[in-house]
Amino acid sequence: MEFFIDENDRVDGIEKVTGKAKYFAEYQLPGLTYGVLVTSTITKGKIIAIDTKAAKNAPGVLDVLSHLNKPSAAGYEQAGGSPMKIFYTDQVFFNGQPIAIVVADTFERATYAASLVKVSYEKTAFNTDFEASIKDAAVKKLQGAPPYVRGIADAYKTAEVKVEQTYKMPVETHNPMELHGIIADWGVNDKVTVYAKTQGVKSTQNTIANVFKIPAENIQVNSQFVGGGFGMALRTWPLEIAAIMASKQLKKPVKLIITRDQMFTMVGNRPAAYQKIGLGATKDGKITGITHTAFGQSATYENFTEGVVNMSKFMYDSENVNTNYYVIPLDMGVPIWMRGPGEATGAFALESAIDEMAFALDMDPLDFRAKNDPEQDPSQKRPFSSKYIKEAYKLGAAKIGWNNRKNKPGSIVEGSWQIGYGVSVGVFNAGRGRASVKGILKADGTLVLQSATSDIGPGTGTGMTLIASKLMNIPVYKIVFELGDSSLPPAPSQGGSATLSTVGSAVNDVCVALKSTIAELAANSNMDATSNFVDVLKKNNLPMIEKTIQSSQNNPEAKNYSMYSFSIHFVQVKVHQLTGVVKVNKIVSVGDSGKIVSPKTARSQMVGGAVGGIGMALTEEAILDNRYGRYVNNNFADYHVPVNADVPDIDVIFIDKPDPIVNPMGAKGMGEIALIGFAGAVANAVFNATGKRIRSLPITPDKVL
Ligand code: MOS
Repeated sequence: MEFFIDENDRVDGIEKVTGKAKYFAEYQLPGLTYGVLVTSTITKGKIIAIDTKAAKNAPGVLDVLSHLNKPSAAGYEQAGGSPMKIFYTDQVFFNGQPIAIVVADTFERATYAASLVKVSYEKTAFNTDFEASIKDAAVKKLQGAPPYVRGIADAYKTAEVKVEQTYKMPVETHNPMELHGIIADWGVNDKVTVYAKTQGVKSTQNTIANVFKIPAENIQVNSQFVGGGFGMALRTWPLEIAAIMASKQLKKPVKLIITRDQMFTMVGNRPAAYQKIGLGATKDGKITGITHTAFGQSATYENFTEGVVNMSKFMYDSENVNTNYYVIPLDMGVPIWMRGPGEATGAFALESAIDEMAFALDMDPLDFRAKNDPEQDPSQKRPFSSKYIKEAYKLGAAKIGWNNRKNKPGSIVEGSWQIGYGVSVGVFNAGRGRASVKGILKADGTLVLQSATSDIGPGTGTGMTLIASKLMNIPVYKIVFELGDSSLPPAPSQGGSATLSTVGSAVNDVCVALKSTIAELAANSNMDATSNFVDVLKKNNLPMIEKTIQSSQNNPEAKNYSMYSFSIHFVQVKVHQLTGVVKVNKIVSVGDSGKIVSPKTARSQMVGGAVGGIGMALTEEAILDNRYGRYVNNNFADYHVPVNADVPDIDVIFIDKPDPIVNPMGAKGMGEIALIGFAGAVANAVFNATGKRIRSLPITPDKVL
């Protein structure tokens, strides 16, 4: 049976739903062996001894590697410091740190043998308590970004009306369905092949080259399908290096997949955050001062920062704005970007405070936002490349039935439930990088496009195929977009909502180049300029033509503009009066992300962001026992991600107007804005329903009651 796809479908949809799509862990290599990690059971200190005798004698075990006997990787011994080098020292930096790898002929035997490894430690005092560290003057706090002041600092303090509040967020973990890991095959002549879970095959290739001091061309990274990343696969983690090291030592392919509980400790998280917002306004609702001070969690052995306070500098028109952002190094695994990194954290605080101010002023929160919407970027004093946020307010408000909302909290009751409405905006940089794409236009009427980009789920191939189809006038089923292979023309990692903009621009440019070559060939062979490329190639006896183009990083005009994607999320919640349970009842998310290239996958992004937002707002919290520095809910039974029953129908609306500056498609990124702001909308709706302002996520029933 043959399937045809049309432009409403994902190009890889059939492969995904029929199980044909192959994820890294599914590759079967001859002689494959299995690695299992031994992890530290203390939080900080020194490894005194590792007894591997019993493990090494267990059935099927090939070796046990640790800092005591790691194979030499030229240069590796010298490479201390940050980022953490696995099996480099006897130091333990966090609980759950990988300290040895056991390799056996089966996963089960490796798992059993790992349980036989006996480690003795010398413990030292540690600190994992984020909130206590904020107040503890003795704890080292690092500047996460330069302090920012526009106008007068702390101007809110003298405003006619002021809001001064603290907002808290716990650690969230990424938890894609697919576990992290790698298959590493160190072959002869130092040729290395890996099947990886990565958001960037080139970045993985470069990291391996740097760690093992071998040429990048020696390393082949394959990652055609990725079962979700959310940011955690934006770097190569130490555990991946451990598997490669083991493969080098054993001269056999090694597969290492970490366990769900290990996903909480060794592959990053969204850092906990503590934020103070001071907001000042005149009685008639003009903002006169914004002060945003944020603290984020980081690690002692590596630093991590993100753009927590960025949005406060330009989202609202205020003469006076000052921000500060500090990080606190804790004895925990280092955080990493998680969907809507930084901004999702900052937006929860700022957009909650905006709602609090609107209430204090007795204004509709949408009217208050509209009144303070800046004409241009007040931090850079330059126009936005495109911004239709006020139009988005109107579309979303009409769809959710905003006119049913009462400004007085607790006004709507249905049976045992209180009903409330909330709104919040989201914003993220509409970035564009540089990428290369190769286009092969064939006389059989097909087009092959190749780029070493990734698809962690948003549908990269679908978007690229649609861009090419439109430009080349070739039906989508005759176009193949190849990705996830480090030998293809280079592209950046998939992150920061920039892939469609970055790689799409290169697809655009390669299609333009192919078309111009076809036009030249047509002219040379006295054919009509409108001739079909198949006829032109045949007339010229060419089976195909090829072009590889590196797209420019940006339109030269771009420097004169601030480029952002915007979103606005409307929710209706119901809150149970006796149990405090919050249900998100209705969702309308409006995206102002330029021209929509791929309607189906764009909608999916917004839906996925809203689902993640429900988790952030209501359920997700990695709970640490500070006595032991260990997570206590490191599994899906206790760490609650939203399930189907938590998610109502989601209405997605796009402004769908091209941005004239960002790229030839006019398309701004949208992966992040799908989530950014969502939790604030829920918190604001809970206040509207109940009169209870919850400033600490997640909004669990105990906080509501
Ligand atoms: Mo995203 S946090 O840029 O994968």
